[in-house]
Amino acid sequence: MILRTIYTLCGIFVFLSCQESGNDLQKSEAIALDPPRQVILTWQQDPTQTMTITWRTDELMENHSLRYAYSPDARRRSWTSVKAESFTFDETKAWIHYVELTGLKPDREYYVIIDHPISPEEFHFRTLPSQSGKRDLVFLAGGDSRSRRDVRREINALAAEQFPDFVIFAGDFVNSAVNEKDWDEWFDDWHEQLITQDGRRIPIVPAIGNHEVIGYYRQTRENAPYFYNRFITPEPRNHYALELGSDLLVITLDSDHTMDVVEQTDWLETILEKYQDKRWKIVQYHVAAWPSVRGLNDEIPKKIRKYWVPLFEKYNINLVIEAHDHAYKRTVPIRDNQRDDENGIVYIGDGGWGAPIRDTKNAKDHWWLEEAFAADHFWKLTLSADGVNLKVEPVFRPPGRTFILEAEEVDNEIL
Ligand SMILES: [Fe+2]
Repeated sequence: MILRTIYTLCGIFVFLSCQESGNDLQKSEAIALDPPRQVILTWQQDPTQTMTITWRTDELMENHSLRYAYSPDARRRSWTSVKAESFTFDETKAWIHYVELTGLKPDREYYVIIDHPISPEEFHFRTLPSQSGKRDLVFLAGGDSRSRRDVRREINALAAEQFPDFVIFAGDFVNSAVNEKDWDEWFDDWHEQLITQDGRRIPIVPAIGNHEVIGYYRQTRENAPYFYNRFITPEPRNHYALELGSDLLVITLDSDHTMDVVEQTDWLETILEKYQDKRWKIVQYHVAAWPSVRGLNDEIPKKIRKYWVPLFEKYNINLVIEAHDHAYKRTVPIRDNQRDDENGIVYIGDGGWGAPIRDTKNAKDHWWLEEAFAADHFWKLTLSADGVNLKVEPVFRPPGRTFILEAEEVDNEIL
């Protein structure tokens, strides 16, 4: 705060000292009004050794860069400076800047200053541990944050209070795919709120939803410009796998928005075969295969159950995170299209991070639903330090309704 105040005073000084020169004055005003904002952390590669940092400005200046160091108190020459890649795209007024930091050490905090002559942006982040036994890994899962901003902000605040290592987010960030105001509000909120009290920013692992896409379903990448340009993840960005530490693989899929479900099947099997020995394997995508509100026999759920679910079962996926229906849901353990308490997979969802919440089917009358009801919520997942136990907790808004699902209820392999 002190640093920011000093810089603000410097800004006034710059303004006053330039009054005699119109061009210089305009330049100073542009700089003063255009600080780096909407910082987002994602991963393109190994989360134990890399971090991708993205931010926006209104104007393209001569140099956009950041500095990072092990410690906020590092001496000046200990900070490493990195120039950003900058670009824009047709549907935005913003300039996007990003840096991928590589060669980092696992499980360490790094301090960052995004350079700006008036208002540099300061924060820190933490790489993930590369070995089990170090500490619990805490991460959140949710989706559907789109249209009730006040609720979304309440849930954002609840999310940051969990001190998570990262958030996996199963799509439908905003209501309108190319409405810049919607996206600005979403990114402004995320920037302001998805940060711990001590200034640690929380990375996101995003999946695409229908509201990121003009036309919603079976469209091209060009129809989802904000998703593809603002979240820099492993190519092709709509389906990718990330090893999140030594014991966890998270696979993100595109449920028919910019790529057909069927077309991802071969890639999915290749990934699952490659990582078959990974202890915990979690999948996220947007449209629920086992919905709490919409029809079980709608086209996309049927496709997912036909093409993806047999692979989930063949390779013993531990947990699947779904969204799109805007309700709280937990399925029974499912295998071969029936309840299987011994070897079934549990699917949780169905999105409730601010979207209008919906009444659900009655779980008692629908065999695949263990429980389902209308509730704003996200999920908190805690992977124990020894990598053996995954605790899954729904966190509801308003707080106070939280309860804990014991790990046995979702673990079909380890315990
Ligand atoms: Fe949706």
